[in-house]
Amino acid sequence: VSGVGGRDGAAAKAAILTEALPYIARWQDRIVVVKYGGNALAGAGAGAGAGEAAQRAALVTFASDVVLMRSVGMRPVVVHGGGPQIGALLARLGMETAFVGGLRVTDAETLDVVRMVLLGQVNPDLVGAINVHGPLAIGLSGADSRLLTTRCADPALGFVGDVESVNPTVLHRLLEQRLIPVVATIGADETGQPHNVNADTAAAAVAEALQASKLIYLTDVEGLRRDVNDPASLVSTLDADELGELLSTGAVTAGMIPKVTGCLRAVRGGVGQAHILDGRVPHALLLEIFTDEGVGTMITLA
Ligand SMILES: Nc1ncnc2c1ncn2[C@@H]1O[C@H](COP(=O)(O)OP(=O)(O)OP(=O)(O)O)[C@@H](O)[C@H]1O
Ligand SMILES: [Mg+2]
Repeated sequence: VSGVGGRDGAAAKAAILTEALPYIARWQDRIVVVKYGGNALAGAGAGAGAGEAAQRAALVTFASDVVLMRSVGMRPVVVHGGGPQIGALLARLGMETAFVGGLRVTDAETLDVVRMVLLGQVNPDLVGAINVHGPLAIGLSGADSRLLTTRCADPALGFVGDVESVNPTVLHRLLEQRLIPVVATIGADETGQPHNVNADTAAAAVAEALQASKLIYLTDVEGLRRDVNDPASLVSTLDADELGELLSTGAVTAGMIPKVTGCLRAVRGGVGQAHILDGRVPHALLLEIFTDEGVGTMITLA
């Protein structure tokens, strides 16, 4: 809305609010799990290697969107990764890091760094940005209240965990108090050994356990492409079977794989719909939830 004051500006604002009304009614009390990608966090609209100011702006915008969702009666749950931030600290420490099948090989020292970054930096930054608006967000990890119980994914990957079970009790309690849980995806196995869990996979498991109405992946691409190198091949909607087929063609690679498998798991497990959105677009969340414009990719069961 360009005309700020004036009659035209007022009419446009009223139109936007009116358009939002049915969506506000529809999503009342509904649980929405939002996975915020480390890449989206690394700077909305500024591309890779964004400076600190852009990073801060992305965080502030994301936080106000989540607060708005909660203010109109939704129950957002934030799940986050932090790949670029972990990579940056490993580089500063001069530590080598390797990926196998999109997963970071995590030895004991790397696990220390992963925990420092996720629990000491990314999680409190997100919580802090939301809490500028009031006493709303609470940070936790998968080890809290046994939210995420893990098992070793593959000995070759070190301390990387698969989600064995999700105990959503703590999230239900927080949501009941109208708090916004912000989850760092460090889980623990039966013995208490911490594991690094892929945030996309964890978000899908949490959404399924909560029987959320929506699962939203905010990432650094405008949505799912049929051809990874062709932005014009964006898919706006597809059902689980179509997505399964696309996955089997090899069109989905790298960091998109856990998102696609997460979307499949979620919608097949009872989550109403899953979305892959461009987190670099300011207010992508609001556009998806409160307007008639379909942004990014939407996956439904059928
Ligand atoms: N078919 C596809 N359509 C769109 N993107 C794809 C596809 N296949 C692979 N990709 C890649 O997946 C990337 C998104 O996943 P990535 O893991 O890099 O980000 P993220 O999960 O949002 O962030 P983080 O892993 O830090 O939490 C895109 O930038 C793109 O390069
Ligand atoms: Mg990723």
